[in-house]
Amino acid sequence: MTFRTIDWTENKIRLIDQTALPGHSLYLNIETVEDLAEAICSLRVRGAPAIGIAAALGVALAANNHTDEPAEAFISSIRDAMDVLGRTRPTAVNLFWALNRMEQVLNQAAHLSPGEIRERLLQEALDILNEDRLICHQLGVHGAELIPDAANILTHCNAGALATSEYGTALAVIYEAVSQGKEIKVYADETRPLLQGARLTSWELNANGISVTVLCDSAAAFLMQRGEVDCVIVGADRIAANGDVANKVGTYMLSVLAEKHEIPFYVVAPVSSFDLSISSGSEIPIEQRDRSEVAAFMGRITVPEAVPVYNPAFDVTPNHLVTAIVTEKGVLTPPFELSIRKVLLEGGILSDA
Ligand code: MRU
Repeated sequence: MTFRTIDWTENKIRLIDQTALPGHSLYLNIETVEDLAEAICSLRVRGAPAIGIAAALGVALAANNHTDEPAEAFISSIRDAMDVLGRTRPTAVNLFWALNRMEQVLNQAAHLSPGEIRERLLQEALDILNEDRLICHQLGVHGAELIPDAANILTHCNAGALATSEYGTALAVIYEAVSQGKEIKVYADETRPLLQGARLTSWELNANGISVTVLCDSAAAFLMQRGEVDCVIVGADRIAANGDVANKVGTYMLSVLAEKHEIPFYVVAPVSSFDLSISSGSEIPIEQRDRSEVAAFMGRITVPEAVPVYNPAFDVTPNHLVTAIVTEKGVLTPPFELSIRKVLLEGGILSDA
């Protein structure tokens, strides 16, 4: 990779500001939880796994910034930080999964000194970061088995290295297929309204020497009709127990189109994206974002002020439109209710009790 998405350096969180891409590769040093919450809300750091990593590092940052406080105040400062971070974005379950891991460490270490608690929290956050690298690599290896040589792949939003610690989820499959010598051509939906496909996916693939063409979201149907798409590959922000998938708004539309054109539709996500506490996608909280993202373009107002805007950041693809879900444990096929449960049971992530 030619860049680092997120790191811990000199007691600060260092991240590439994704709002400045593709024009500028600007790195931010985040020193407070408030600045980190702002960075997550404004999508300076974004993508489900990266949000989880950022939140975990944010808890370590809070511990670092409050070590001098008496034990009780120290622990309550860390819990406050978890609350602040937990309120940033509602859809990506990886945020809550990572905060939950940090909370478990805090609970187990609560009797220790602030310095020792700080060390344990930092270690857990770094584990989450480093595990993600390995997981993304495994996603790539499993997913690449599904990709034929000379494939044209359509993707949506950015589920790449910028959305994770490294490699990505959907894009890890592409990086791996290319490294195996397959000739891959990527089509990246621009992904209105914040253009993660145009600004981020095309930037990172191009920076890594992979052929990529950007299209308006509304051109995807025509591209498929012309026979130019061999498969669709996307990431996920949360997957319900029945395999319904929340991902960037527009993903559902692609899944409907893929079915119509008999094109496989693959979702690539770590098992931390499964949320078995909800049975179907209708229960997934969908983030609604500000009207300004839709009502202005290139510095100009594009929607009359009196007219309301509908701006959900995500949508839900029903499980019957998903051909397979690629995880770090292997490729899951329908019926997803069973295959998801099985992979989590085998991985010891779920118990039968
Ligand atoms: O609003 P964003 O940019 O955080 O949305 C990101 C996506 O929808 C990604 O596809 C998803 O998080 C998977 S990232 C590996």
